[in-house]
Amino acid sequence: MSRVVMTLIDACVFDAYGTLFDVHSAVGRLRGDVGPKADELSQIWRTKQLEYTWLRSLMGEYKDFWHVTGDALDYALARTGVDPTNIRDRLMDAYLGLDAYPEVPAMLGKLKAAGLKTAILSNGEPNMLEAAVNAAGLGSLLDEVLSVDDLKIFKPDPSVYQLAVDRLGVKADSIAFQSSNAWDVHGASVFGFRPVWINRFGAPVERLPGGAEHEMADLTGLPDLLGI
Ligand code: LAC
Repeated sequence: MSRVVMTLIDACVFDAYGTLFDVHSAVGRLRGDVGPKADELSQIWRTKQLEYTWLRSLMGEYKDFWHVTGDALDYALARTGVDPTNIRDRLMDAYLGLDAYPEVPAMLGKLKAAGLKTAILSNGEPNMLEAAVNAAGLGSLLDEVLSVDDLKIFKPDPSVYQLAVDRLGVKADSIAFQSSNAWDVHGASVFGFRPVWINRFGAPVERLPGGAEHEMADLTGLPDLLGI
């Protein structure tokens, strides 16, 4: 059987939340204190967080991702009827130290050892990204941590993907872009990246322009896909 290899790649750029970091680990750690609505709360929190980024970009009303994450949490607490009093600030703190998915450190280590550039390109506000990267011990495995905060607009605005091209100094079509967020994969594809969809939850394909060049269930197989 012939092996599928993604060729002519100089840099691997990763989405952060949902791709490298498990966004549901914040609520997961405080599950006992949140109570029976924990999973519903976590899902609504994430959904609203993303919706607010898209809506704020369309309105021209940027606020950074930490602010948006707090707004989304407040909405989710209200919607589920979970009392915010003793849990709201602890959930936000937990977001600064989300779990990295278990395959991430070894996978990044293999890419670096093979001489590829590695970077995060995220909606995240720089301080929250730095906290998450440090908490997961990924700092030495990433060449750049790029934030939309420099641009004051969220993904999938094309200027966000251009930021990676400019900062890494590599062509768009030599960037393998990994995201678990399908809409981000489509945005990156339309821009001209070579996207790999990390379809962690077995979702169907989105009906949007562009699409993934490859799909995998987690990041374990990425070095192999790149011929490393
Ligand atoms: C990010 C969001 C989309 O990290 O998860 O950019």
